[in-house]
Amino acid sequence: MSVRVGVLGATGAVGQRLIQLLDPHPEFEIAALTASESSAGRTYRDAAKWRVDSPIPDGVADITVGATDPDEVPDDVDLLFSSLPSSVGEQVEPEFADAGYIVSSNSSNARLADDVPLVIPEVNHDHLDLIEVQRDERGWDGALIKNPNCSTITMVPSLAVLDGFGLERVTVSTLQAVSGAGYDGVSSMEIIDNVLPHIGGEEEKMETESRKLLGEFDGSEVEWHGMDVAASCNRVPTLDGHLENVWAETEESASPEAVEEAFRDASGLDLPSSPDRLIHVFDDPNRPQPRLDRNIDDGQGIAVGPVQETSDGVQYDCLAHNTIRGAAGASVLNGELLVDQNYI
Ligand SMILES: NC(=O)c1ccc[n+]([C@@H]2O[C@H](COP(=O)([O-])OP(=O)(O)OC[C@H]3O[C@@H](n4cnc5c(N)ncnc54)[C@H](OP(=O)(O)O)[C@@H]3O)[C@@H](O)[C@H]2O)c1
Repeated sequence: MSVRVGVLGATGAVGQRLIQLLDPHPEFEIAALTASESSAGRTYRDAAKWRVDSPIPDGVADITVGATDPDEVPDDVDLLFSSLPSSVGEQVEPEFADAGYIVSSNSSNARLADDVPLVIPEVNHDHLDLIEVQRDERGWDGALIKNPNCSTITMVPSLAVLDGFGLERVTVSTLQAVSGAGYDGVSSMEIIDNVLPHIGGEEEKMETESRKLLGEFDGSEVEWHGMDVAASCNRVPTLDGHLENVWAETEESASPEAVEEAFRDASGLDLPSSPDRLIHVFDDPNRPQPRLDRNIDDGQGIAVGPVQETSDGVQYDCLAHNTIRGAAGASVLNGELLVDQNYI
């Protein structure tokens, strides 16, 4: 039987990807769409400036978009995917959880809250049980779970593997696609023929979220990983796909061959959207490239280039599709994990 799901912020860049991934989906059936007051009351076809590379699904185009308010969402919807601006999510996501909905959210609000699971299923699915702590503390029947920021999710699967050698220090420089800023995020006059060497708040997100994701959950709290992370984030004129240059130092010495083998051994989970192999390792030093490699495993794969030895560790490049594995697909995977773990 399908789980009835809704999308909060359904008309935006991530919301449209969510629609594309959810229709069709083997476990989920779209039953509610919400957006801002300016979209509410219109059909989805009218309200969304559809820019995803497949037509609006027939069953979705004529759904009337509702206001983003728990009273507007039918009670028989079990799971909500949220792609709201974080200022809006901060206010309304707890209201939905309090009203009994389970919310799988992309927005950055509350990602670091002690009682909110921040999850990449293939990396730290055990953190999902923080929901029990959350429900005890907040008295919610519903729940709020988060996926990390798109740049964080691109590097953390490979860092989780490297942690097998004792991760001590990570330095990362990103080349992030324009879709990561949303449709209205970066003007064409700013980004064409240009690189923007700063993305507000992004470096801090990479430095903190990665430590929470790789932390230890003891049944009541997550003790963050002790590694040092230093990030420098850049916006580049690609449409989709964040490419990142990573330098990592580990406690145990790790040869490039051993690291590549460990990357190749990292498997996905038995969830509909999880790839068989989490990390695709290229031998060619010219790969991964955003245009060529962002759609690996339907946009859910992590692509990694050849690993090189440095004076104190290893260096490699990694890439993920920022609106699929980095956003909408990450929320869908978390939804699949919630079903798998009987929270829904
Ligand atoms: N883009 C990415 O790659 C990416 C990756 C990871 C995380 N995220 C996060 O995901 C969230 C969505 O990003 P996006 O790129 O999809 O943004 P976006 O394109 O600007 O879409 C925002 C969505 O939220 C709705 N909205 C705006 N103000 C609202 C309000 N006051 N009440 C209710 N709904 C409102 C919009 O509806 P209208 O159309 O009616 O205005 C639209 O559906 C953000 O928190 C972002 O940080 C994005």
